[in-house]
Amino acid sequence: MNITAVKTKPYSDQIFGTSGLRRRTSVFMQKNYIHNVVQSFFNAIQGFEGKTLILGGDGRYGSSKALQIVIKIAAANGVGRIIVGKKGWLSTPALSHLITLNDAFAGIILTASHNPGGKDGDFGIKFDLKNGAGAPLSVTNRISQCAKAITHYWWFDAPDVELGNIGTKQIGKTQVEVIDPVEDYAAYMQEIFDFKAIKKLFASGFSFVFDAMNAVTGPYAKYIFEELLGSPAGSVRNAEPKVDFGGLHPEPNPVYAAHLVKMMKAPNAPDFAAASDGDGDRYMVLGKNFFIDPSDSLAILTEHLDKIPFYHKRLYGVARSMPTSEAADFVAKRKKLPIYKTPTGWKFFGSLLENKKISLCGEESFGAGSNHVMEKDGLWAILAWLNIMAITHKSPQKLVQELWDKDGRVYYVRHNYEDIPLDQAQNLMRALASRIASLPGQKFGSLIVKSAEVFNYTDPVTSEVAENQGYIITLSNKTRVMIRLSGTGSVGTTLRLYFSRHERKLNEAPAEVLATVILATSSILQLEKYIGVNTPTTIV
Ligand code: G1P
Ligand code: ZN
Repeated sequence: MNITAVKTKPYSDQIFGTSGLRRRTSVFMQKNYIHNVVQSFFNAIQGFEGKTLILGGDGRYGSSKALQIVIKIAAANGVGRIIVGKKGWLSTPALSHLITLNDAFAGIILTASHNPGGKDGDFGIKFDLKNGAGAPLSVTNRISQCAKAITHYWWFDAPDVELGNIGTKQIGKTQVEVIDPVEDYAAYMQEIFDFKAIKKLFASGFSFVFDAMNAVTGPYAKYIFEELLGSPAGSVRNAEPKVDFGGLHPEPNPVYAAHLVKMMKAPNAPDFAAASDGDGDRYMVLGKNFFIDPSDSLAILTEHLDKIPFYHKRLYGVARSMPTSEAADFVAKRKKLPIYKTPTGWKFFGSLLENKKISLCGEESFGAGSNHVMEKDGLWAILAWLNIMAITHKSPQKLVQELWDKDGRVYYVRHNYEDIPLDQAQNLMRALASRIASLPGQKFGSLIVKSAEVFNYTDPVTSEVAENQGYIITLSNKTRVMIRLSGTGSVGTTLRLYFSRHERKLNEAPAEVLATVILATSSILQLEKYIGVNTPTTIV
């Protein structure tokens, strides 16, 4: 046999964050770094011998090497079948769908999501389990423990498997099936959405631009929007996945997709525009000269999703992450739907989706999804918008304005303080923890603190407890701030501050509406004292 045990030494930093392990590409390229993580995954789980594994990713720099490492370690550990997207391409939601479709025991996704790619960018690895959802904390903690104690990995010594052509290959007893990454996902989308109605919308002259940001959704979008739905050729832009994303930063938001926002401000702007991230689980949607806040987008989906036959009478409930604005709560209340507030990170929606507590969920960070797959799904969200517009015959702007008319508008902004030294960030959070109970009643600028709490969460299904998931401070004038540290960075620490204000006045500038709560927060947290600055590095 060609299977050998290869000696290795542990790395101390293989600790999983909000969504898998993300580090600088150069960190991942260290000797045996990927080998250790992958073997630790197999050490941490059981019952995979002879079973199916789904493998893919966003094709970023480092993927071709990493794919071969995963294949050889999986084969050496006794995996029966590996289904891998051609060229190693699979979007996160498509991979999740393939897990359930093929009754696989797990999926391995090589991506750092929306982080920049390339030699000087980031690389990452995520694990999905049998149900198609991201591995929960209990499992990722076990993987980290295994990684700390690793002494050797199992290796199948064989030439690299050709991944450029569709077909079946063999590596020892393990079958490697290279598949079209798009086919099954596109078929599934046609089960969910009314493609005829969307086709009609496009045929009526409704204009649309989708920007794949040179990441993995390009081939999916070309096929779905242009070939199946008849959006004119060229509607899908930056459609060829590139190892460095062609220099773009595939994070769909107004900062990194500024070119799209600018395009939508021009007089000849299309009716609707959208973008997706590196691995295809995030999305941004824009109307003519009109940015749609992701929290508002979740509210729109809550309002209209059950008009789509697949969801008719099947909208069980809705969930949003804690820092997401409460726009969806108002809709859920009106529609008498249960609404859940979870910690940040898609994995917290898993048990709610699986147990039919909810069928829709979303985050402020440009993520939305439903119980069709257990990962968030950017193209799904965009198709949902298109289908809703095809049914209601309303523009994006009109849909949002109607929502605000009913419920008022929740003005919202997220401030990121990136790359802060860890000790400074920790000191700031510790100081806040010690003062949190004494904040109610205190005045900061023109605002009075009404309530202040640490967010602890007990999963309503599994009773698993997640403590210290950030702080929520509610102030006068219906203002609120949420405070937490990011769990996805690859260097330094990122402090995230999420500001919101519920208002009946609908067409104000968010920066002005939120100015008082931003100012008050700066003194509540004593930003200058703890981190030396009080202006964020990015606002998005
Ligand atoms: C960020 C987002 C969060 C999302 C995660 C993975 O995590 O804020 O909503 O689930 O990326 O895409 P954070 O860096 O804040 O821990
Ligand atoms: Zn992503």
